[in-house]
Formats: sequence, C-alpha cells, structure tokens
Amino acid sequence: MFPSKILVLCCLATLFQLGCQNKTTDNEMSDVPSTPPDQDQTASSITSAFFGTTASGDSVDLYTLTDDQVTIKIMTYGAIVTSIIAPDKDGNKADIVLGFDSLDPYLQQHPYFGATVGRYGNRIANGTFSLDGSTYTLATNNGPNHLHGGLKGFDKVVWQAELINDQGQEKLQMSYLSIDGEEGYPGNLSVKVQFYLATDGALYIDYFATTDKTTPINLTNHSYFNLNGGSDDILDHEVYIKASRYTPVDEGLIPLGQLAEVAGTPFDFLAQPMPIGARIKEVPGGYDHNYVLNDWDSKLNTVARVSEPTTGRTLEVLTTEPGMQFYTGNFLTGIPGKGGTAYEQHYGFCMETQHFPDSPNQPDFPSCWLSPGEEYRQTTVYRFGVKDQE
Ligand code: GLA
Repeated sequence: MFPSKILVLCCLATLFQLGCQNKTTDNEMSDVPSTPPDQDQTASSITSAFFGTTASGDSVDLYTLTDDQVTIKIMTYGAIVTSIIAPDKDGNKADIVLGFDSLDPYLQQHPYFGATVGRYGNRIANGTFSLDGSTYTLATNNGPNHLHGGLKGFDKVVWQAELINDQGQEKLQMSYLSIDGEEGYPGNLSVKVQFYLATDGALYIDYFATTDKTTPINLTNHSYFNLNGGSDDILDHEVYIKASRYTPVDEGLIPLGQLAEVAGTPFDFLAQPMPIGARIKEVPGGYDHNYVLNDWDSKLNTVARVSEPTTGRTLEVLTTEPGMQFYTGNFLTGIPGKGGTAYEQHYGFCMETQHFPDSPNQPDFPSCWLSPGEEYRQTTVYRFGVKDQE
C-alpha cells in the first residue's frame, strides 16, 4: 500500500464528507433509499492496495471493505467482487464467492466471476433491437446472441474508484463512461456503482446511470456464491425465491415471451425452501432462468433466501429489480480458482437481479429503456448471516 494513495483517499473522503449529497430525481425509483433507514454511524472501513496491471498498462486497485464480521474485496477491473469472507455458525471464516487469487486470470476469459455486468446484463436475441425506426446491431458473443454487454462489457474495463461519505456511511464508488457506439449501444452512458457494507452485515450495491441518447440498460452483479466456502458443490444449499412465475426460454436461453407458473414444477422455490439439488436433474443443463419476482414495486424487497445446512451460513437477497436470474454454475468445467480449487459444475450459484432477458425485443416485459433526462437506479443487497440455532 502506498502512503501517497492513502493520503489522497483520506482527502477525497473528507471532501465528500463536507460536500457530497446523494442525487435524487423525480423518476419512478427516486424513493429507493440509498442508505438503509436504520443506518447508524458505520463501523466499517475501506482501504485500497495496488492489485496489478492490465495488458494495456492500466493500473488496477483492490479495495477492502471490512466490518467486525465480513470482509469484502472489490477491484477496479470490471468492478469485480473478488472475495467475501464471512463467518459460519461457529465463527469460522471462509471465502463464500468463487474467483481467483490474482489479477491475471481475471484478465483472461472467465465466466464473469463477481463482475459488474453491463450495459445490458443477460441476453439480447440475435444482438439486435429496434428503436424509433432504427435497427441497432450489438456485438454477439453467445452463439447468435448478445450476452452481458458483448465482447468487452463493463466486466472487462477499468473503473475509476473513489471513496465517498454519504450521511456518515463510507462507500466505494466506481465510475465508468461507456461511449456512444460501444459494443453497438446508442448514447454516452455515465455509470456509477456504489458498494458499501452496512451495519446489518450486508453488502449494498447502488447503481446509477444517465445517458444522452435512449438506450437499453440492465446492470447486475455476477457473484458466484458457495456458502460452504467453495470446496464442494452447492447442491445442498436450500433456496427460497419469492417468485410464482419464471420466463421459459428456447434452446439459446432467449425468453419465449410468456410467463410460466412455477407451482408443481422443479422451478418452485416459493412453496417452501428446496435444496438446489433436489430437482435439478429435471431441468436440462441446470437452473439458468429468470424469475419474475412477486410484488415488484421498484422498492427494495426481499426476494431470495439461501442457507447451507453444514455451516449454517445464510444469504438474503433484496432488490428493486423485477427479475432475478438464478444460475447454478452449469457451465463451470474445473476452472482452477482460489487456492488451487478446481471449480466444477454447480460449485457456485448466482442470483443476478435484473430486468428480464431480451427486454429490448419484448414489449410486454418491464421497460429497460433509459432516456436523456432520466436517471437509472438499481439497488441490490446481499445480506450474510448464520441460521438461528435451535
Ligand atoms: C449468466 C447466463 C449463463 C451463463 C453465465 C456465464 O448467468 O445466464 O447462461 O452465460 O452468465 O457463464
């Protein structure tokens, strides 16, 4: 760690303490609190260190967010969450997300471990959409389709990081300007993502964006969780998802358009919590589906709960989004990860809170369009805990 860097960060934090006000607009999501209501002065702290250099010579920093329970690392390359260390029921700490120990493997092809995904997370059919009579052609990187922002999405760029102080809560803010035409998208899109650890043992992720031309947008986080610490599969994890319906897909994982009921199917994680492995074999390839979250009102709602029986670790997911991709690491094929662990199929699961896949081509899905003068907002919370012991 460089003393000059610490000095700069301290100065920035102080400046923001004096002057930073959270932006509010009168759009539909302006009532989403960016700071939890019961927020007291935080006991968390944020530090940074040099992590490495990209092939084009850009320096990458790794930020550490810590409180007395949880330690989270996030780097400026891809605004990627590289590590979340959380205690189990006996207080033993372990890293509960998949990833790598150093920067280099992240610079190679990998399955979006921990990444901030954009400009449009998930798929856009045939990498094309129409808007105001014009047809736009996006980069295609998943068969004929566009996936997770294209060939060089937000997961593969270096973000600008700064520390801000928002009403006593210290936050790590990552910024990125996606220029007009990048990966085929219209408009200069200015994106900010704020990460912070709140006193309730939760990682808050607040997304903000503005544009100078109408564009589709769908930002999410692609962390692969494994609540037993990543050395075994996630099939014993018990999952509750607050969704009565999901979006069935074709063989290219593009939604067919209709919403299907989960009741009576292997997709039903609503009636009661179900181990991921209980019915996964009935789903060809495993779960990789968008759930239509119940009671969506653009406010922060609890949408999923996961618990791991051996360690007692739990994860609760809250979001302002209408959908959540539940993905069970179906495409993991022995990738060498942290500590030399080979990440095999189903070694991690993702809960990618989002607008529905292919929304730009599906007028009946919730709107994913952002126009000049509007502000995009998305908040997702991953709350870590342990199951109450009987
Ligand atoms: C998403 C997709 C999956 C897969 C992973 C990355 O979750 O829905 O099909 O592409 O990303 O491997």
